[in-house]
Amino acid sequence: MPLSNSALKATLLATVLTGFAGCANILAITETEPAAVPAPVPASNVDMWPVLNPPALDPDVERRVDQILSQMTLEQKVGQTIQADTDSVTPEEVLAYRLGSVLSGGNSAPGEEDYADTSAWLAAADAYFEASVNSDGVEIAIPVIWGIDAVHGHANLTGGTVFPHNIGLGAAGNPDLIEKIMEVTAAELIVSGHDWTFAPTLATPRDDRWGRTYEGFSEDPEIVAAYADRIVYGLQGRPGEDSYFDETSVISSAKHFVGDGGTTRGVDQGDTAVSEAELRDIHAAGYYPAIEAGVQTVMASFNSWNGTKMHGYSYMLTDVLKMRMGFNGFVIGDWNGHGQIPGCTNTDCPESFLAGVDMYMAPDSWKGVYESMLEAVASGEISEDRLDDSVRRILRTKVIAGVFEKPKPSARAGAGDVTLLGSDHHREVARRAVRESLVLLKNNESTLPLAPNQTILVVGEGANSITKQAGGWTLSWQGGGYDNSEFPNGESILEGIVDIVGGAGGQVIFDPTGASNADADIVIAVYGEDPYAEFQGDRDHLDFQSPDFDTDKLAEMKAAGKTVVSVFLSGRPLWTNPEINYSDAFVAAWLPGTEGGGVADVLFQAQPEYDFTGRLSFSWPATAVDFDNNMGGDNYEPLFPLGYGLSYGAAAKDMPQLSEESGIEETLLVERGAVFRRGGTLAPWKAYLVSQSEGVLFNGTGANLDGVTASRLDHLAQEDAIALTFSADNVALAFLPEGQTVDWSTDLSEGKALSFAFRSDQETPLTVSMGCTDGLICAQSLDLQLAAGNWREVNVPLACFAEAVDLSAIDTWIVFSAVPGASFGLADIRTTNTSTSSESCAAN
Ligand code: BGC
Ligand code: BGC
Repeated sequence: MPLSNSALKATLLATVLTGFAGCANILAITETEPAAVPAPVPASNVDMWPVLNPPALDPDVERRVDQILSQMTLEQKVGQTIQADTDSVTPEEVLAYRLGSVLSGGNSAPGEEDYADTSAWLAAADAYFEASVNSDGVEIAIPVIWGIDAVHGHANLTGGTVFPHNIGLGAAGNPDLIEKIMEVTAAELIVSGHDWTFAPTLATPRDDRWGRTYEGFSEDPEIVAAYADRIVYGLQGRPGEDSYFDETSVISSAKHFVGDGGTTRGVDQGDTAVSEAELRDIHAAGYYPAIEAGVQTVMASFNSWNGTKMHGYSYMLTDVLKMRMGFNGFVIGDWNGHGQIPGCTNTDCPESFLAGVDMYMAPDSWKGVYESMLEAVASGEISEDRLDDSVRRILRTKVIAGVFEKPKPSARAGAGDVTLLGSDHHREVARRAVRESLVLLKNNESTLPLAPNQTILVVGEGANSITKQAGGWTLSWQGGGYDNSEFPNGESILEGIVDIVGGAGGQVIFDPTGASNADADIVIAVYGEDPYAEFQGDRDHLDFQSPDFDTDKLAEMKAAGKTVVSVFLSGRPLWTNPEINYSDAFVAAWLPGTEGGGVADVLFQAQPEYDFTGRLSFSWPATAVDFDNNMGGDNYEPLFPLGYGLSYGAAAKDMPQLSEESGIEETLLVERGAVFRRGGTLAPWKAYLVSQSEGVLFNGTGANLDGVTASRLDHLAQEDAIALTFSADNVALAFLPEGQTVDWSTDLSEGKALSFAFRSDQETPLTVSMGCTDGLICAQSLDLQLAAGNWREVNVPLACFAEAVDLSAIDTWIVFSAVPGASFGLADIRTTNTSTSSESCAAN
């Protein structure tokens, strides 16, 4: 965003003050209290959990494991229990510490980018592998295994086939297809040298405000369970058959054990407050078939169950999962999840290991974990028996998966074979999955199927954006922001439409905003949510707010007599009554991935057999506050129930106009005062690094401008804060409301403050300004002197800005600036209630 040069360019930000200097240095700094430690739930009745039949232990494997174990040093054993992220560990360190595993998180890839191509991945895979099998100084060397989140295909690999996210596959309701998808995913993982995918997610999401709803197949545990074993077969092969861990297999991880989809208000990593029977029947349902299918690893969940974090829940991880259900693979932790146990840190948490986590996912904290583990073993806090039990489990998986016999990753069958990526077969499986995942929710007057030989106007950025169609966990953790050219084997929905319509002698006009009012009988509008992952996708309500296409346009088009077909892209069912009303036909397309052509296949019925076969695997809300509208629940009155979906083959009644009352009460709009939360800005706010003459958008992982850099930092969760480093004057982090003004007059009258979380290792002079415009000219600035220290909340009364800035219609920036050399973290920027009244502002 280039800012226009200003005549007042030379004016220093901190000195551009109105006569309101009285507000400087008047801060109420509230220290955030550590969360109270909840009382652990008494372990109840382990007998109520099922006894399962996982594949029987193979005596040959067990002998081999014992033999390997007997040759290992204590340090080697400790090393096996740790997984480090490739962004934070070198092959030399894998050798020196004899680590058991490495992972690549969503933003970790060899090279500078978030993602990499086959040769870069393979070279890295070889380097880690060869380091691990170097037997210098040890009796036996243990090959490392490399895990990655191939959660909808191998979506971090350039050219990889990206399948619909699980929510769409749940709608497809086709277990045979899911097994094929997993076989393709395994094949592409082997191309790049990976051994292990952190999939499937077996969550049963029950509150669609959750940012990971799309990672779940269904709110219905039966649908989750019907897929779980087939997924494991697709990835690992079938126990007892030749396919089991043959050269086309990779290791699978069932995650996140357990209750991730049941948290209160759908808060990611939150507390699942349910009875044990509900935990067993709803949230654990997918694990039973997965374990019986031989899934080798289970990932512990970030969430708590009735107040106790799963990573420290011995009853669940050990008594239930391992002892009762007989899971004999290993439990992998989640991303520093152990550090969330009260009393633990990311680098020190024997509690988690004692509770049953066998391998710590310690991305950047691995070295500390290694040291504290050694101490805990030396002091006896962790017994050698427990250590051996865990290492035995890890070795068992490695022996079963054949890694001791395998050559280096690049020498394995299929490795480096880029013709497999986007091969006809792989693409056809994905395109079929797209076709089958589509759910037709409205088709008045049999609008669909469309005849291709006519003029079709396509509107909505989403139509030609593979990045938007693919959602989170694509090329990077959060996804989004990539050009179509970065998906060399992909096709957008628009391209699919152009193919079919062009081929039939029709014409396609693509007009993203719809502003041209081009003449056409049919409008296909493709719009929906922008990509997100994990907690960054948590929402307060289910009202769909279009980030990039003004859906009111559809009302105009319809009023002008055009026929409107909506293709809705989303990671969850959302309240879309107005959009459904504007549309003659409405299709829930979820997050289809790289085979956008599958959408046109069905819209135009390109083959006689292409029909809508997808059925809702999540109930569709009747209002924006219809949060936990799950089949079988109390007051179940969804707009469309579980299992709903129209087909060409079956006659359907036309749908009447729907109510456009969202049901949202003012109190629910907690977002009113939120600027930056869970690592992202909230609409209409955008974050920029700015100087007096230019600005760069801060999104994804970071931003750079001469004089100031912004990167990610952890506050309450991974990367939910901004780390700022200043090396010049007259630069700043600025938050700008885009496209609409913000009204904080109520917040002002309620005596609220502009609040943010802050941390720094040094005392920091920080200037907070409001009413700033181009050239960094601000109506009001407050100079704060913030002490060094860990995260705490800083509150600046809004009243301090009220005279200089019209808080009822904010259309200027909020700016944070500091002096060269300052370096600090900011998070959770919002208005909040504070005990500090506006008088204390004037009084200072
Ligand atoms: C994700 C990683 C990601 C990381 C960023 C995690 O929650 O799963 O893949 O790179 O956060 O810190
Ligand atoms: C996520 C997991 C993921 C891991 C590694 C975590 O933040 O919760 O689902 O497998 O990161 O990326």
